[in-house]
Amino acid sequence: MKVVGGSASVSLARGIAKELPASVVDVAFERHPGGFPDGERYVRLLASVAGDHTVLVQTTHPDPMIVEFLLLADAIRDAGARRITAVVPYFGYGRQDKRFLEGEAISAKTIAKHIAVDCDELLTMAIPANPEIVRTFPLPTKEVSGMPAIGRYLKGAKIDAVLAPDQGALRLAEEASTIAGVPFDSLVKKRIDSYTVEIGPKALAVKGKSVGIVDDVISTGGTIAMAAKELRAQGAKRVIAACVHGLFVDKAEENLRACDDVIATDTIQSKFTKVSVAPEFAAAIRALG
Ligand code: R5P
Repeated sequence: MKVVGGSASVSLARGIAKELPASVVDVAFERHPGGFPDGERYVRLLASVAGDHTVLVQTTHPDPMIVEFLLLADAIRDAGARRITAVVPYFGYGRQDKRFLEGEAISAKTIAKHIAVDCDELLTMAIPANPEIVRTFPLPTKEVSGMPAIGRYLKGAKIDAVLAPDQGALRLAEEASTIAGVPFDSLVKKRIDSYTVEIGPKALAVKGKSVGIVDDVISTGGTIAMAAKELRAQGAKRVIAACVHGLFVDKAEENLRACDDVIATDTIQSKFTKVSVAPEFAAAIRALG
């Protein structure tokens, strides 16, 4: 088996290859120093994948990483790979799973359709849309959970409880709490608009405790900031925010000052990436058979 990492996921690809174990095929991303003057992507496989089951690891965010994914999948297919497993750790454009207005694209399906051109199957994680959308994808698709990785980190950080910022994230909190070996609960979130959320009243047993708040995505950090403030108001002594996908847009860093620590996985690389989901993807690849 061979593993190829796109430039959004080089380090995660190496981690997955080490876990499997499998060999890494290096990729040249620049033809000339500095790349093409117009900013177009370039890829070249630096070793053979002919006849191999090849795993292509690439987050489809930001937009140029989608183009890079397509170039790599095409290059791997043309180079004679026997089977291509796409690992898309963060599925960019995965938010829209319905046609709300006539004429709209169902963006999650659009991206899946293009992945299916060269890939035989898809593994992804915490897709931002309704997870049921993967049933409509034109290739076999499995969602892999990132919560074991977060649970491991929170266990090491010796937290006393895991909290979800809303009911939607309750099953994530439950999964992480099982691994961390502590109780879980959830706050009640009301979203006002894309940038504003309110946390409703609910008494929680957090006085004097160290708590981890877990969510699938941190985008503007508004949700986590409101949850952290509420937990502090209820007497929490230490608040750690943990997410699978750390987008950290707009004033996220400022908002997240309400927390003692912020951690994200390596589905999207950032300065908050402190835990890897390589073991979770490696296990899912091994289970493909
Ligand atoms: C939505 O409910 C998601 O689970 C996250 O809570 C949300 O995307 C986080 O966004 P933000 O960081 O902008 O509040």
